[in-house]
Amino acid sequence: MTWLITGGAGYIGAHVVRAMLAAGEQAVVYDDLSTGIAERVPDGVPLVVGSTLDGEAVGRAIREHGVTGVVHLAAKKQVAESVELPLHYYRENVEGLRVLLSAVTDAGVASFVFSSSAAVYGMPDVDLVTEDTPCVPINPYGETKLAGEWLVRATGRATPGLSTASLRYFNVAGAASPELADAGVFNLVPMVFEKLTEGAAPRVFGDDYATPDGTGVRDYIHVVDLAEAHVATARRLREAPGTDLTLNIGREEGVSVRRMIDRIHAISGYDIEPVVVGRRPGDPARVVASADRVATELGWKARYGVDEMIASAWAGWVAAHGGGPGR
Ligand code: WQD
Repeated sequence: MTWLITGGAGYIGAHVVRAMLAAGEQAVVYDDLSTGIAERVPDGVPLVVGSTLDGEAVGRAIREHGVTGVVHLAAKKQVAESVELPLHYYRENVEGLRVLLSAVTDAGVASFVFSSSAAVYGMPDVDLVTEDTPCVPINPYGETKLAGEWLVRATGRATPGLSTASLRYFNVAGAASPELADAGVFNLVPMVFEKLTEGAAPRVFGDDYATPDGTGVRDYIHVVDLAEAHVATARRLREAPGTDLTLNIGREEGVSVRRMIDRIHAISGYDIEPVVVGRRPGDPARVVASADRVATELGWKARYGVDEMIASAWAGWVAAHGGGPGR
């Protein structure tokens, strides 16, 4: 099959492209390069520069490359920015998806995989979040991902021959190789790297949560495992037409901020005591995936743990910014 991978020049998208190629699939990247990096697209994979808001361009890319499946990762993904710019987020993430789905249905594409997020759950008050845990997003970013899931599901149900899946990513980290590391500094791991390599104390956003060490607990997933989950999903959609899946992509392991910083210290060789600052508004105490459904539906299970995520992300950080182990 030939897969159009929107956002394929982004951090996660570039890993999905490689996993798809390794699985013997054909890939075409569609990316507006607003945050994507053209050099991340492997040689031999066509890169079409365009926005998913441009139905004409995306339709042309689908036809010209004989696309039979779409993995849609292109989106805005910064929670704080989404609070400032909700109209922008709804336009990019919901309207961009609507336009894309319109091109997909016009062209008779068979499979559609949507990049969703654990942000759809908001502040879940459960030990393990299942796909049936109520979705109550608490910021525009999460709202656009939930609305996106509805749009994808409704379109799949209304379109004979179109199979769909929404993958709810938990906290993604790591890299397949240094040059594919996340270039953004918006999440815990790169934020801690940045502080450490500046010689400053990493920040802990609150240590008075109802968790074992008081700091926030998350389910971290290696981007290479996440990319493999897309391959398994693609396979499933192809083999079972009419499928309509919603799956958590996590590891069912809760890791606290303190624990993550401890492991970052051990792996990077930097050892600057973190400073506890106030809670970040909107941060839930604990968000950990139940990974049952994805195991049952796809037979997929993560292979890597937080040490591999941190070590590979650290190699990427050092390659981009310098600051070798232990200085
Ligand atoms: C993880 C934990 C922080 C930085 C967000 C989005 C989610 C998804 C992934 C997008 C929390 C704590 C962080 C720091 C800290 N987004 N922290 N010090 O908030 O779980 O999820 O990113 O695609 O939708 O909500 O991820 O990496 O920001 O934070 O203590 O310097 O680390 O409070 O407990 P989060 P994160």
